[in-house]
Amino acid sequence: MLRDERIRDVDIRLAMPVDAEHIVEIFRAGFPRTLLPYTIYDQPGIVDYLRGMVASQRLGTTSVTAVATYRGQVVAWAQFHRHPTLLFLNHIYVTPDFQAAGVGRLLLRDAIALVKDPGQIYLGSEAFITNHKALRWYRSLGLTPSDRFDWVKIHPVSSRDKPTWWSFDGLITGLASQKRFGFSRFLLRTARAEYVIRLLGRRFYRGNSFDIIDDPSAMTALHTLDPERSLMIITRAEGGEPLYPTVAQGQQVRGRIDVALAVLGHLPI
Ligand SMILES: CC(C)(COP(=O)(O)OP(=O)(O)OC[C@H]1O[C@@H](n2cnc3c(N)ncnc32)[C@H](O)[C@@H]1OP(=O)(O)O)[C@@H](O)C(=O)NCCC(=O)NCCS
Repeated sequence: MLRDERIRDVDIRLAMPVDAEHIVEIFRAGFPRTLLPYTIYDQPGIVDYLRGMVASQRLGTTSVTAVATYRGQVVAWAQFHRHPTLLFLNHIYVTPDFQAAGVGRLLLRDAIALVKDPGQIYLGSEAFITNHKALRWYRSLGLTPSDRFDWVKIHPVSSRDKPTWWSFDGLITGLASQKRFGFSRFLLRTARAEYVIRLLGRRFYRGNSFDIIDDPSAMTALHTLDPERSLMIITRAEGGEPLYPTVAQGQQVRGRIDVALAVLGHLPI
């Protein structure tokens, strides 16, 4: 027996540019409000950006997005990151009024069929460690906990005593993207390493490695570019207590696609 009759009128398809506004609305309704500023979904150009992203997703982009519609209206969406053997469910959001009605399962099952590449055998995803509901949902699909990710926030300061050297690569195109979308990406090179840096809105940088904290040239470069911005680093937790102040912690989960599909095939959707 169906637990919710509305599921009969739910269809799954790849996202189209017209869906972008609904995708953002559903994300904002489901994502923790205090953490929204750390994401691109809080930035003014996100709808414009998503329109472009889904318009080009057939070309082989990293992200692929699918939506669930109820009588033609978008009620859920899922976004995957493509890797050679791993299909990573980066986001899945069901609009609150449709949660626990089977839409998430239906969307995941049919979206995998739409987006899976032949070499992909693993399915991964992530939720905040406080999001017990989502983590239970993943477990029911055979996805078990793998890595923890810390969301760390620090404030870059200039080095006073050490010699520094850096170069920004892609800063001009980055600033143009910043103007259009409210977020951007460029490379920061120092004698020690190369860092991918994102600008998010007016208040944050985002990086992906703790190494940058111990690199005086990189910290001085970020402080010089904009002394007001804090740096958010989202990186794999080493175990034990986090070394830096965290604003959130993510739990990744992983399993086999065939196992998840077998579960999804058996459940009443
Ligand atoms: C997690 C999420 C995608 C699941 O999709 P869904 O359509 O709500 O879930 P489904 O109806 O397909 O699955 C229902 C099952 O999940 C659990 N569940 C999910 N949401 C639930 C809810 N609101 N109330 C009760 N059970 C819920 C139940 O255990 C249920 O299992 P059961 O059939 O054994 O009772 C959805 O709830 C959601 O969008 N949550 C907010 C955003 C989020 O946390 N996303 C994941 C992290 S990125």
